[in-house]
Amino acid sequence: MLLALPQVLNSQDIRSIRCVLEGDSCWRDGQASAGTQAVLVKRNQQVAQDHPSLAKLQAQVLQAMQTNTMVLSAALPRRFFTPQFNRYTPAFPAYGPHIDGAILHSRHTHDWVRSDLSCTLFLSEPDEYRGGELVIHTRLGTQRIKGAAGDAVLYPSSFVHEVTPVTAGTRLASFFWIESMVRSDEQRQLLFDLDMNLLKLRQQHGETAETIALTGIYHNLLRQWAHT
Ligand code: NI
Repeated sequence: MLLALPQVLNSQDIRSIRCVLEGDSCWRDGQASAGTQAVLVKRNQQVAQDHPSLAKLQAQVLQAMQTNTMVLSAALPRRFFTPQFNRYTPAFPAYGPHIDGAILHSRHTHDWVRSDLSCTLFLSEPDEYRGGELVIHTRLGTQRIKGAAGDAVLYPSSFVHEVTPVTAGTRLASFFWIESMVRSDEQRQLLFDLDMNLLKLRQQHGETAETIALTGIYHNLLRQWAHT
């Protein structure tokens, strides 16, 4: 599943987060947190882990994700990896093709998180930088994404992906991973499709014997497939 989520953050949230991320002092070379394969292709910057405002920014992003009904339906989250923030500029321009690690350790929560879904939350408008597309190599072809500030994109962590070189301007984003209660992307997609169609049926016809029965099927499938 590859899902664009419009306006996960509102403009006030974006302004307050960007206010902290302006300037150079909070940024460190992203290579410090790269694994052995990623270190060869990672050329960006990340917010210093000891930055005094980092926890507040992380909580803001988490709160927005955990209360977004589309995120809850699509991801069926079990655990969120603590959100991180990155910056791409012509001096630190790109992150070449790579695959995200399967098991990640959060130094904030001390949890181990399996990366079922990767998420990028855009904090810059597309016209603030040149290049910097998130390119996801799916089994059905290549997707090139440049979201508006506040938009997020969710995609299976099993896909190779990259950020193309930023040749002008600054691209700010938050990124993190989600461990889902439903590990299989295929099963998660079925549940999401069922849930979205039930929503539309209810809007069109109200609650009926059929929507009650289909809701039962949704929950019975979830009961079979979910690990809590
Ligand atoms: Ni990645």
